[in-house]
Amino acid sequence: MPTVTFEGRSYPTEPGETVLTALLRQGGAIPHSCRSGVCRSCLVRATQGTPPASSQKALKDTLRAQGYFLSCIAQPESELTVALPSDGVIGHTRAQLLAREQLAPDIFRLRLQAEEAFPFMAGQFITIRRPDGLRRSYSLAAPPTSDGTIELHVRRLPQGQLSGWLCEALELGAWVDLFGPEGSCFYLPDDPTRPLLLIGTGTGLAPLLGIVRDALAQGHTGPIQLFHGSRHPDGLYLQGELAALTVTHPNLTYTLCTSATGPRADVAAFGAIPDTSGWRVYLCGNPEMVKGAQRKAFLLGASLAEIYTDPFVRAG
Ligand code: FES
Repeated sequence: MPTVTFEGRSYPTEPGETVLTALLRQGGAIPHSCRSGVCRSCLVRATQGTPPASSQKALKDTLRAQGYFLSCIAQPESELTVALPSDGVIGHTRAQLLAREQLAPDIFRLRLQAEEAFPFMAGQFITIRRPDGLRRSYSLAAPPTSDGTIELHVRRLPQGQLSGWLCEALELGAWVDLFGPEGSCFYLPDDPTRPLLLIGTGTGLAPLLGIVRDALAQGHTGPIQLFHGSRHPDGLYLQGELAALTVTHPNLTYTLCTSATGPRADVAAFGAIPDTSGWRVYLCGNPEMVKGAQRKAFLLGASLAEIYTDPFVRAG
């Protein structure tokens, strides 16, 4: 029978045994509760090997794509190495600051070059660690490139310790530590005709832009509607690049919203798309907007499994 490897130790399985049962029987500790595939507390990730499809059925597509599965209902069919979602299975590399460009009064685009292979999906996020240990997370605004370039959009927050350092003090050519990637907000090429709705506020544009770029690069032909909102016009950025993309890709539409003088991005989006059945929805930025828009998208017809969210918590 297959063996499961967890935290460096091997756990042989018995016929009909699940990954969770095999580990618990032999002293492995995995959080769990219902043991019937309902509560999801036993979620683990296959870092090597393929988990049974039935143990991934109830998960979002993006989690499946990353190898997550429910260990309480997974009877392994082949050797597996698994880790807890919170384990250090995320990658680490160093990256060098190549360029910094001011996009708006308090928003900067940083281009970094990873020292070694650092696989990720545009729209996921990475964590930057300063030499004193301070960490903050930022979304990946472009798909991976052959030369290892990484694009981030950083809002310089008042008294923001790490954002101030990244936007002002960090010198070109300097190295930072990157950890990740994390997050399940990214493009899936499973149905290139599916309509995509993307709503973001502030630097919530970063993951959405990454998803749009990835979708277009992978030949998505279905409609892609992007709504970018900010309270004031100076919180909007990259209008020129996005407008150019709509010219080269007629299936992409791009709507700017300033809530001080007009409707919020989510209000404008659901006004334009009153029936979200069949749409895949991505919501990024202000946590209140993300939560409200998630509910609204669901009430208007989108499947919860097709709504991907990335609420930004301001930490500086
Ligand atoms: S323990 Fe509840 S889903 Fe596995």
